Amino acid sequence: MSYFRTSVNLVQIRHGLHFSAKHFKQPEVKLTKDVYKVKRGNYSVLDDSHIKKFENILSEDRVLTDAEELDSYNTDWIKMVRGYSGVVLRPKSTEEVSAILRVCNENNLAVCPQGGNTGLVGGSVPVFDEVIISTSLMNKIIKINDIPGSIVCQAGCVLETLDNALAEHGLMMPLDLGAKGSCHIGGNIATNAGGLRLLRYGSLQANTLGLVAVKADGQVIDCMNTLKKDNTGYHLKHLFIGSEGTLGLVTEVAIQCPPKPQSVSLALLGVVDFDHALKTFRLARSMLSEILSSCELIDENCMQPVVNTLGVRNPLSEHPFYVLIEVSGSNAAHDEEKLNAFLESAMEDEIVADGTVTNEPSRMQTIWQLRERIAEALLRNGFVYKYDVSLPHNSFYQLIPVLQDKLKGTDAKIVSGYGHLGDGNLHLNICAPQFSPELLAKIEPFVYEWISERGGSISAEHGIGFKKTKFLRYSKSDAAIHTMRQIKQLMDPKGILNPYKVLPME
Ligand code: FAD
Ligand code: MLT
Ligand code: ZN
Repeated sequence: MSYFRTSVNLVQIRHGLHFSAKHFKQPEVKLTKDVYKVKRGNYSVLDDSHIKKFENILSEDRVLTDAEELDSYNTDWIKMVRGYSGVVLRPKSTEEVSAILRVCNENNLAVCPQGGNTGLVGGSVPVFDEVIISTSLMNKIIKINDIPGSIVCQAGCVLETLDNALAEHGLMMPLDLGAKGSCHIGGNIATNAGGLRLLRYGSLQANTLGLVAVKADGQVIDCMNTLKKDNTGYHLKHLFIGSEGTLGLVTEVAIQCPPKPQSVSLALLGVVDFDHALKTFRLARSMLSEILSSCELIDENCMQPVVNTLGVRNPLSEHPFYVLIEVSGSNAAHDEEKLNAFLESAMEDEIVADGTVTNEPSRMQTIWQLRERIAEALLRNGFVYKYDVSLPHNSFYQLIPVLQDKLKGTDAKIVSGYGHLGDGNLHLNICAPQFSPELLAKIEPFVYEWISERGGSISAEHGIGFKKTKFLRYSKSDAAIHTMRQIKQLMDPKGILNPYKVLPME
């Protein structure tokens, strides 16, 4: 175990990654309608009269129609799906969103709400020619309240920007993810994003105090609230959290924010097999308890691409698995004592084979990159078949060797597993030189059946989007799906909001 501790009393300075569609040179993404053979709904086709109506609501420069400019709005981050919308609208207020949706609803125009376009299930881009409503100009922070710790802001604020603003008040956002430099808080709410700190701070569903959303017909549903307790009738805000833009467009949010920790340390531990990774988590939970803020897993199949493709340095020698343990608290001496006791115990009991620990900001940042940049590294290796599943801890990693075996002889190059070990959330990623329907047929529905048989969830944190609608039944009963359809009918009778997403086609 190599220690490179410093005496710096640190504030966490990990920076999010700023993504742009131009980062990767990849083959042209085929249109979703051609690859997945979806039938276009009976919506109107955009014409000049609609554009004029939008220009009456927004200034001309906020109605984008240039095909080249629209390309990155039409294509998703993992280059899996692509629509061909002819317009992107960039409102600045709830009132403008309301006026736009009224026009769309009256004219039977389908709509695709878009935040930072970092979603991984094809929900954030149109399937056909839906009108894209981007929240990119809805980026005002409205209020930060030091006591009890909350932020009110517009839906298009970038997660990292919010975190930086809160730091000046000694606060932080309760969620953190690799895409924080690009994703919007509205997109986070719409997907009920999980991320790297859910283990400590809980889900966004639990941390959202209030929100404002606009229904398909333009009606504003004001559920704004900054109170911690408010049991007045149905909790309508929960309809919008995780509904992926199918029930309304979220325009403003209030989030409760924990204090920013005074001390943070990070350990990267090498272990011989998954059983030892699990033992590390169990020991961390019992010995670190309230200061444990993250417990992440990286297997060798994804560590290698991050090191080899992106050139990030792995400070340890090679191991089959790595566990990343972050602790954070308010008293550096106390936290250090606990962390040291945990590390000594893990070494004495031969649970971990090797490790390194630091509280030095730049070193922590490098170690975090080994985990946060896995998605990016795999994407550089070709087409990625992505699965994001919840599983009971005892079967957490079993699926990887099963698939490695099943996919022998196919063009799958990398079958890797990583993710939020502490939350039982595995990211299974399979890389191949390009998309192939034959390989897809070997993976699906097999993966979903396997997960369902073990009581898991087919989507732990990324949502259903466009990609998983026909597999929803592996995680939801017929009665539950029927009720979801009834809610959709109530909120959006014409079905204009993010069609082809979340609910299976009938
Ligand atoms: P978008 O991708 O633009 O949209 C996502 C969905 O929300 C779409 O269905 C869209 O229509 C809808 N939507 C967007 N804004 C609104 C709105 N204002 N009102 C209504 N609907 C809206 N996800 C996790 O959960 N945990 C992770 O750890 C994580 N890590 C990631 C790491 C990387 C490198 C990347 C690329 C992605 C990661 N993601 C993760 C996925 C993604 O970042 C999240 O789903 C995020 O919450 C999406 O936010 P966004 O603003 O980019 O939304
Ligand atoms: C992560 O935890 O890195 C994300 O959810 C993205 C991914 O699945 O690759
Ligand atoms: Zn994740």
